[in-house]
Amino acid sequence: MEIVFNFYQWAYQYKYFSCLALVGAIAVLKLLQIIGYFIYTLVRPGKNLLARYGNGYAVVTGASDGIGKVYAQHFADMGFNLVLISRSIEKLQLVKNEILAKHSDLDICIISFDFSKGTAADYKPLQNQLDCLDVCILVNNVGIIKFHKFHEISDFEIENMVKVNEYSCIYMSKMVIPNMLKRNKRSGIYIMSSGLRTSISAYVSLYAITTTAVSSLAKSLWLEYSGKIDICCFEIGPVSSSTNKDKSIRHITAEQCVSSCLNKVGFDSISFGHWKHRILRTLTQYLTRKARIKRGERVYNLRKNE
Ligand SMILES: NC(=O)c1ccc[n+]([C@@H]2O[C@H](COP(=O)([O-])OP(=O)(O)OC[C@H]3O[C@@H](n4cnc5c(N)ncnc54)[C@H](OP(=O)(O)O)[C@@H]3O)[C@@H](O)[C@H]2O)c1
Repeated sequence: MEIVFNFYQWAYQYKYFSCLALVGAIAVLKLLQIIGYFIYTLVRPGKNLLARYGNGYAVVTGASDGIGKVYAQHFADMGFNLVLISRSIEKLQLVKNEILAKHSDLDICIISFDFSKGTAADYKPLQNQLDCLDVCILVNNVGIIKFHKFHEISDFEIENMVKVNEYSCIYMSKMVIPNMLKRNKRSGIYIMSSGLRTSISAYVSLYAITTTAVSSLAKSLWLEYSGKIDICCFEIGPVSSSTNKDKSIRHITAEQCVSSCLNKVGFDSISFGHWKHRILRTLTQYLTRKARIKRGERVYNLRKNE
């Protein structure tokens, strides 16, 4: 206490006190602004996407399960027609039936496509199908997460992950943008990335590369197209899904994930989606090297055989 008092005395004496008080006041105001904005985002209602984009088709990749399936359900509830893409036509048919039971008036196209095999030429038939539709939303959701020791990753896994996580996002976005630019209304491209991109832990090297790539893509697309297209990148944290059965206080449900991401559309171009993941990101950036290794090891041991 005495040290602080002496410091202030010294600062006052040298007329630095008012400067320090000003800096302190700015810091407090900044903190209040951050907390205020955080609270505001929790209570702020989302945009009406049907009014924003008009009636059209919402395309969701990786729509047969997990977060993608919940996106499809939300868009159907809003009144959008759907194009659902993933490998398994049987799983897609089940999702389609489930949605049609609630919204029989919607047009739902299901397309089987394996993004791990997708070369530029393979995307052509997909493009022909989408070109016939008024696509107003694309959710680049498909993605695979694998935990590896870097030297153990096989060439097959590298290619697989890059193609599914990165190529899909690049080619799908490139495919829909020309027609989106011709629409009278705005459109939306949403990119599912991961908070692991920034709060790196051990054993996620390749996944972190792919999520960094799609986040960079989103930033660039935002600069180029945000006048006409909502480019939103969601760097989400852990979500319990069919592939991620790990459950902890950090996990949210796919339902929570999608509703919080959709609430950000039209406001934030890059966000963490759910408030829990915003806080998680703030805390994890201060993790030590040791803690990051331990964190990675825990998940690696849990999920290495998936
Ligand atoms: N869950 C998390 O904790 C978490 C955290 C951060 C970010 N994310 C990101 O969020 C997105 C969705 O995650 P999720 O947990 O919902 O995934 P998920 O439950 O594993 O679902 C993946 C979906 O993608 C499809 N799919 C997988 N490989 C495919 C391929 N080669 N070609 C076409 N479709 C394929 C699957 O259907 P088929 O089997 O029918 O093909 C399924 O519909 C991913 O991009 C992921 O990186 C998730």
